Amino acid sequence: MMDELIVRGADHAPLYPILLEDSFDGLRSLVHSLHIDGRKICLVSDSNVAPIYADEVCSLLEKEGFFCVSFTFPAGEASKNLDTVAALYEFLIEYSFDRNDVLFALGGGVTGDLTGFAAATYLRGIRFVGMPTSLLSMVDSSIGGKTGVDYKAYKNMVGAFYQPSAVYINISSLQTLPEREFLAGMGEVVKHGFILDKDYHLFLKKNTAKILAKDAAVLREMIYRSLCIKRDVVEHDPKEKGERALLNFGHTIGHAVEKLNEFSLLHGECVSVGMVAAAELSVLRGYLSRSKANEVMELLRSFGMKTSVSPLERQTLLSVCHRDKKADGAKIKFVLLKEIGQAFLDDEVSDDEIWVAFQTILE
Ligand SMILES: NC(=O)c1ccc[n+]([C@@H]2O[C@H](COP(=O)([O-])OP(=O)(O)OC[C@H]3O[C@@H](n4cnc5c(N)ncnc54)[C@H](O)[C@@H]3O)[C@@H](O)[C@H]2O)c1
Ligand SMILES: [Zn+2]
Repeated sequence: MMDELIVRGADHAPLYPILLEDSFDGLRSLVHSLHIDGRKICLVSDSNVAPIYADEVCSLLEKEGFFCVSFTFPAGEASKNLDTVAALYEFLIEYSFDRNDVLFALGGGVTGDLTGFAAATYLRGIRFVGMPTSLLSMVDSSIGGKTGVDYKAYKNMVGAFYQPSAVYINISSLQTLPEREFLAGMGEVVKHGFILDKDYHLFLKKNTAKILAKDAAVLREMIYRSLCIKRDVVEHDPKEKGERALLNFGHTIGHAVEKLNEFSLLHGECVSVGMVAAAELSVLRGYLSRSKANEVMELLRSFGMKTSVSPLERQTLLSVCHRDKKADGAKIKFVLLKEIGQAFLDDEVSDDEIWVAFQTILE
């Protein structure tokens, strides 16, 4: 039951499966089910992930009869740009990849976003398979069809909605993920409970120690449940016209903090402090009780996630919040909570309220 999810399109037709496994072994049957026998595969990966996993995955694919080449780029957001995409195009041309060949994105969100974008655009679109290895990419970026790269200082400025042929998650690859990256991914995980699923929130609360200890069964259930939540949201709202905006809980102030700290903090860390501020705003606006806001804070603290940041200038913070792409004209659409597990959009939040809420997350 917990091994496979199907993501469906607007017409309810199945788009692609997401497989949850404890090793790479299940890739064998997956690749044959994709009807790509005889095709070339390019395994795209970054300089941290490739040395750990690329050989194992490539040799497994070769044993299944595929010609597999590996393209590796320097790890980090700084590589998520058109230059890396161009280098990948060059590599594919050099190996004569045609429209029937396939890209495999083995790595975190950076690898997934840029490989998906290269797949969407090379020869007007070739197939790709997601193989997320960071927690954030497993529960968030590998699902929903958003691909793209940064352009100069502008994050995710160039991209396309483009779906993978399949997503293969080897949960045990989390064992090599640095702890700070794991906790950043937990930012998106706990967000899923806060916005839409109180039961899931209680599950996370109850299993905090096991999650931190990377208990295999608990991690599997956690990733499965987060995927279900994100899948349901993107199925209802594939192009982010409505409900999908709820996934931006903690992201308005989070993005501002991320940007104003010049991306020295991880995205999930900024989302974590952004959620504390959004919970505070929910109290200030009279929607959420103080004790529920405390619960938000307590869960984040119990995981050891970031709940405070260094001060910022009022005008700087507010102008970045207003410029955030999730803002609608002059009004910012804040995702607030009525309850834990019940988020909604509020476009009446004033600058003074944002500023008061921000004070509560200062170091
Ligand atoms: N497409 C979407 O819907 C979507 C959603 C959220 C975030 N994103 C994007 O995702 C990116 C962030 O993703 P991320 O946090 O995974 O970043 P990332 O890909 O840079 O990975 C984080 C770090 O962990 C390393 N790593 C990944 N898996 C590992 C493993 N198993 N073992 C050892 N090291 C490992 C990477 O090399 C990197 O250093 C951002 O670019 C963001 O814009 C996209
Ligand atoms: Zn996010």
